[in-house]
Amino acid sequence: MTIVKRALTNERVTKIPASGIRRFFDMVSGVEGSISLGVGEPDFVTPERFRQAAIRSIDEGHTHYTSNYGIKPLREAIAEHTARLRGLRYDPATEILVTVGVSEAVDLALRATLNDGDEVIVADPSYVAYVPGIVLAGGVPVPVATDEASDFRLLPEDVERAVTPRTRAILLGFPNNPTGAVLEARDVEGIAGIAREHDLLVYSDEIYDRLVYGTEHRSIAAEPGMKERSVYLAGFSKSYAMTGWRVGYACAPAAVIEQMMKIHQYTVMCVPTSGQYAALEALRSGEPEVGRMVAEYDARRRVMWSRFNAMGLHCFEPRGAFYCFPSVSSTGLDDEEFAARLFKEEKVVVVPGSAFGERGKGHIRACYATSMERIHEACDRIERFVNRNTR
Ligand SMILES: Cc1ncc(COP(=O)(O)O)c(C=O)c1O
Repeated sequence: MTIVKRALTNERVTKIPASGIRRFFDMVSGVEGSISLGVGEPDFVTPERFRQAAIRSIDEGHTHYTSNYGIKPLREAIAEHTARLRGLRYDPATEILVTVGVSEAVDLALRATLNDGDEVIVADPSYVAYVPGIVLAGGVPVPVATDEASDFRLLPEDVERAVTPRTRAILLGFPNNPTGAVLEARDVEGIAGIAREHDLLVYSDEIYDRLVYGTEHRSIAAEPGMKERSVYLAGFSKSYAMTGWRVGYACAPAAVIEQMMKIHQYTVMCVPTSGQYAALEALRSGEPEVGRMVAEYDARRRVMWSRFNAMGLHCFEPRGAFYCFPSVSSTGLDDEEFAARLFKEEKVVVVPGSAFGERGKGHIRACYATSMERIHEACDRIERFVNRNTR
């Protein structure tokens, strides 16, 4: 037997922790009677028409690799959709790349643009993949705290304070996972102004763009002078109930897309073909489905939000995505302890806010993309737990 003397793994990768959400995903499996508010995905099955389009594509023999950029009709449909919805015009030939979910798009955008030591400003708390993605790309994450007092918006004055001569980019993820926060027009304008003034790049993850309630979503890429310095990221997982299909996309200046495409080409080649056809159908005929699902999420959101407040877990009004982010500090428990004991005692899964950054501490993330009946049942159990545990 030989002895391996060197470390088997890469230092940069070894140092980043595995996602704090994962173990909460696995908790529920096999536990009878448990209710998960932990997983951030729609409970709806992908609408029938999209599924049929994928099946049809297989029956018609579309079983080969596609262009690295994605099938042309899908890129054309994305261009049309983005122009109609966001007022952004991208050339489907050179400025759009179809990716394996927004997950891959975020990774490609960071790797294709950052050099070692480049600082990237990112809201805290934020989606779990951002900080590791920046680190893996050689960048340095610079978390900027968001606060419940300002509805967890990323405030331009806080962004401005975080800018240094090494700042290369701002990574925006609004509507926000985990808080459900949205940016106001003045935030988007202010952050765009900072990007222009300091010549920064903006990665804008707009995966939840359709899931907003009582407000309009606005893309930072559509601000004056921003399209040329933005990487706009969106996808199908959330708005079209297509998490398992793994389809997302990036729109950016051709020079950026070209570099992103190279990494994509050498790592995954292309997005699974049948998924691309399902996504195409989603863009062609999916509007009524999106409207139906958003209305349903909105009704669930109101119920969960008001129930948290009524049971003494203060929760600001989430206006986007499908999460409530209540504070659990009134119970005297920290978020980790709250989540672990809630599962043990009442079989309800929520994710501790600290999984999303330092500023998530003292909060839990509860996803309302589950049936109204289960939301009520979960809230009854959480209320029982809170009454029993409030010190
Ligand atoms: C903010 C955000 N971005 C990206 C993703 C990844 O989405 P996809 O399924 O498109 O890879 C998620 C998934 O939870 C998310 O919340």
